[in-house]
Amino acid sequence: MSNYHIKHLEEYWQVYRKSVRNPENFWEEIAEEHFLWRKKWDNVLSWDFTKPEIKWFEGAQLNITENCLDRHLATRADKTAILFEPNDPSEETQHITYKELHKRVSTMANVLKSQGVEKGDRVCIYLPMIPELAIAVLACARIGAIHSVVFAGFSATALATRINDCDCKLIICSDGSYRGNKTIDLKKIVDEALEDCPGLTTSLVIKRTGGEVIMKDGRDKWLAPLLDTADSVCKATVMDAEDPLFILYTSGSTGKPKGMVHTTAGYMVYAAYSFKNVFQYRENDIYWCTADIGWITGHSYIVYGPLCNGATTVMFEGVPSYPDFSRFWQIVEKHKVTQFYTAPTAIRALAKQHIDFVNKHDLSSLKVLGTVGEPINEEAWHWYNDNVGKQNSPIVDTWWQTETGGIMISPIPYSTPTIPTFATLPLPGIQPALMDENAQEIKGNQVEGRLCIKFPWPSIARTIYGNHDRYRDTYFSAYKNMYFTGDGARRDAVGYYRITGRVDDVIIVSGHNLGTAPIEDAINEHPAVAESAIVGFPHDVKGNALYGYITLKETGEDRNQDNLCKEINQLITDRIGPIAKLDKIQFTNGLPKTRSGKIMRRILRKIASNDTANLGDTSTLLNPETVQEIMDNKLV
Ligand code: WTA
Repeated sequence: MSNYHIKHLEEYWQVYRKSVRNPENFWEEIAEEHFLWRKKWDNVLSWDFTKPEIKWFEGAQLNITENCLDRHLATRADKTAILFEPNDPSEETQHITYKELHKRVSTMANVLKSQGVEKGDRVCIYLPMIPELAIAVLACARIGAIHSVVFAGFSATALATRINDCDCKLIICSDGSYRGNKTIDLKKIVDEALEDCPGLTTSLVIKRTGGEVIMKDGRDKWLAPLLDTADSVCKATVMDAEDPLFILYTSGSTGKPKGMVHTTAGYMVYAAYSFKNVFQYRENDIYWCTADIGWITGHSYIVYGPLCNGATTVMFEGVPSYPDFSRFWQIVEKHKVTQFYTAPTAIRALAKQHIDFVNKHDLSSLKVLGTVGEPINEEAWHWYNDNVGKQNSPIVDTWWQTETGGIMISPIPYSTPTIPTFATLPLPGIQPALMDENAQEIKGNQVEGRLCIKFPWPSIARTIYGNHDRYRDTYFSAYKNMYFTGDGARRDAVGYYRITGRVDDVIIVSGHNLGTAPIEDAINEHPAVAESAIVGFPHDVKGNALYGYITLKETGEDRNQDNLCKEINQLITDRIGPIAKLDKIQFTNGLPKTRSGKIMRRILRKIASNDTANLGDTSTLLNPETVQEIMDNKLV
């Protein structure tokens, strides 16, 4: 039996029990056998959820890129590490071997050094899904710089906030990006952001679209000539186990995004281990995750997890609808993809198209299908299972978070029997708990509660950058000695978990986490707006869409509501990005509030979702009359 690679259900249970009985031994054995260490640890784990402080493999030294690259050179030098599929299908696919990737990462690392980047410095990466994105990530890790990748769909304001929050001194960006038939001027967005980032002194620009850009003297430099003259050998910087590897921002219930900090050794061990098991990766497989590296899914399951296992990982620059809705399936056929990992929102969008888009392609190479990012509804699950998997490829519905660093609850394909909409069982080492309203753990099966984890696992985020108090308050204060996920879940008769959704003010739209507070802040900047409240409502493709209730200032003026809606969505696009635009905007005379002045979102959520049969007692509200008025004017 191998702890590292589970192959059937009985083995899963054995491994799981062992992992719970003695977590330290369990993870030590895995770390010992499957990674390259410069120095082994003195202590496997020390933790205290009240501080909170969590340390894995203390005393160990390593560099994650030696695990992703160097150690494969003896056996896999000519194997494809990254298979790059460009936006435009007529542009050639690139096969980047382990040997070549090692060289390109080393060269870029030397360029970063020549620009004064040192161990511990923060580097912002704002790039489309091109190979240089993965190379930039690894180049930072090579020299111990902390990468902060910002998804290239975020606006200039959102980018500036993230650059300033962790004091990045350098950014790696591109002139532009391709998305379907659109070309986006990324450099312009960066220029605008950098006007508000006095601490950032250098911007390295990659040429992708060849569009016109303005290069600011002294700050902006083309990357290509620097790469041409840089040395292609770069010794890896030796890192301590708990040295930060990266920062990745995620939305919270309140205004500012949270810079989750992941550290080196534990993250590496868990990303590699979970990748191997959840995707049952075998040596000649071609693995494809359609996420963007700007999100945690891309960090753990496009870059680090696959490369630590010597896998071939596909990077796709484009979108599922370009040149038409068969693009995903065309790529699966072309490269004989074996594992395919995507988001429920993409599945729902593709399921709406003619089935011929799927059926005209040979998908027989597929062995495992995955989903991530939001609950998958039963209909989408069956469509995926029947039409893509031909009822022959298990679906892994993987539940996890930016904060958890890796997949927490998921079937192990070919071992765990799957049930639609259930993420099923915790991976080894993961100890979930469901909590009730009185902060007590709910034991037994067929129960529902708030999902917590009661024991640390190696890839748990260690802090929020620059704000440890917020880290403690958000994740460790609701329930004593527990990590609180912010999700609700149900445990069925056999112990399978089904995630029911967020229980806080985070709304998941098309798989993207959006906090209501920053969106409301953006809306409230509009001079005509007095007050606003955002809630989610069910949407057949996006999962959830955003419904805004907006009260205007009383000026006596008659404003054109269509124009106002446009202006408000433009403000949101400028401040956050187009992903946060509202689907519906209802202008109200007031918002229902408690006597202490808190907006009753629960009621607004029910109205937006057409679930008004049981609104609860509204008589204690400060202004109960608003409820009826809002219901009468609800948008359909
Ligand atoms: C939600 C993405 C149901 C959940 C890796 C979580 C899911 C949030 C699933 C984290 C799933 C993720 N089923 N819900 N399989 N996967 N979620 O940080 O609400 O972008 O808390 O990480 O997505 O989103 P994040």
